[in-house]
Amino acid sequence: MKILVTGGAGFIGSSFVRYVLRARKDVDVVNFDLLTYAGNLRNVEEAASNPRYRFVKGDIADREHVEKVFADHRFDAVVNFAAETHVDRSILDSAPFVRTNIEGTRCLLEEARRHKAGKFVQISTDEVYGTLGPTGSFREDSPLGPTSPYSASKAAADLLVHAYFKTHRVPAVITRCSNNYGPFQFPEKLIPVLITNAMDDRPLPIYGDGLNVREWIFADEHSRAVLTALERGTPGQVYNIGSGHETTNLEVVREVLRLLGKPESLIQFVTDRPGHDRRYSIDCSKIRREWSWSPEIDFATGLAATIDWYRTHQDWIRDIKDSSYLSYYDRMYTRRDHTLHSL
Ligand code: NAD
Ligand code: TYD
Repeated sequence: MKILVTGGAGFIGSSFVRYVLRARKDVDVVNFDLLTYAGNLRNVEEAASNPRYRFVKGDIADREHVEKVFADHRFDAVVNFAAETHVDRSILDSAPFVRTNIEGTRCLLEEARRHKAGKFVQISTDEVYGTLGPTGSFREDSPLGPTSPYSASKAAADLLVHAYFKTHRVPAVITRCSNNYGPFQFPEKLIPVLITNAMDDRPLPIYGDGLNVREWIFADEHSRAVLTALERGTPGQVYNIGSGHETTNLEVVREVLRLLGKPESLIQFVTDRPGHDRRYSIDCSKIRREWSWSPEIDFATGLAATIDWYRTHQDWIRDIKDSSYLSYYDRMYTRRDHTLHSL
């Protein structure tokens, strides 16, 4: 079986590439990734020498290139991780989100249809459902209500996937997972921002009152569920993936500081993110019921392993710090007023 994995040099995509090559000896992987600021070939170093692995640099929204890749390989399945993924960046500039997340997904669907490329797994997010109050959880049939340009672009992609299933019979499934954390996550998302800043004794920016709630899942658990979706998912269906572990951002920051032995005085409350979703919570009883899937790594274990990884991979962090992105990152967080919209 040969699968096209897009975005396989990013955080979760690289976890999936490593996982699938280890777990399935009869699977060949073509990793198609544009290597944006978030893509890093070091994330897939482990796969590089595997004869069942190939890397192709390219843009999922470049129709001609996508067409060529489908023509060169006869794929049995497609797993689409490639995306612009950071909510803050989508607030500053939504254009790349529309291009990659919507037009890119459309290009892939078109070629998957033309080349009869088998199962199409669209990696979506719980953020397409919008925001929750203090109670309740998102179910697969909850209405879409995205609030950020990022989540709106992911919801639009989900609608296209559904349309290609209905109209063109592309055997597609959609997975919607909660917030991921773990090794190799780019230090723009909450947990690696906290870890890398705390290690350097820099302030930890907490948006608003810090009481927003996220449901945290270790990325390798997400990968395990995606492989199950690929193998067992029913075309036309949506599958929620979550851990059941909900915490406020303030609880997360306190735990990171405790594990690193750093003082809580590093916490710095900053201006809230515009349109900041208050709470996400995933009802994943469907995959528990249909696939007997359940999370295996609890938050305390996963967080300790993640911190350990960042501690022992200072060279990976330094590489990123040398890239042009971090000057943008620094501009965003070292301004005295810490406002995003004043950039
Ligand atoms: P990431 O930002 O770490 O990686 C994205 C990858 O996509 C990078 O390797 C990047 O180079 C590549 N890419 C970007 N634009 C591309 C393009 N036009 N063509 C080809 N490649 C391109 O993202 P991530 O956190 O690993 O997220 C992966 C997927 O999982 C995304 O679809 C995201 O929406 C979804 N997701 C993420 C989370 C989370 O907490 N991070 C939660 C649920 C769902
Ligand atoms: P993030 O990791 O950006 O994921 P998402 O917005 O997709 O959920 O943010 C997780 C939570 O942490 C969210 O409530 C915003 C908050 N946050 C901070 O308080 N400070 C930060 O520096 C970042 C990046 C996020």
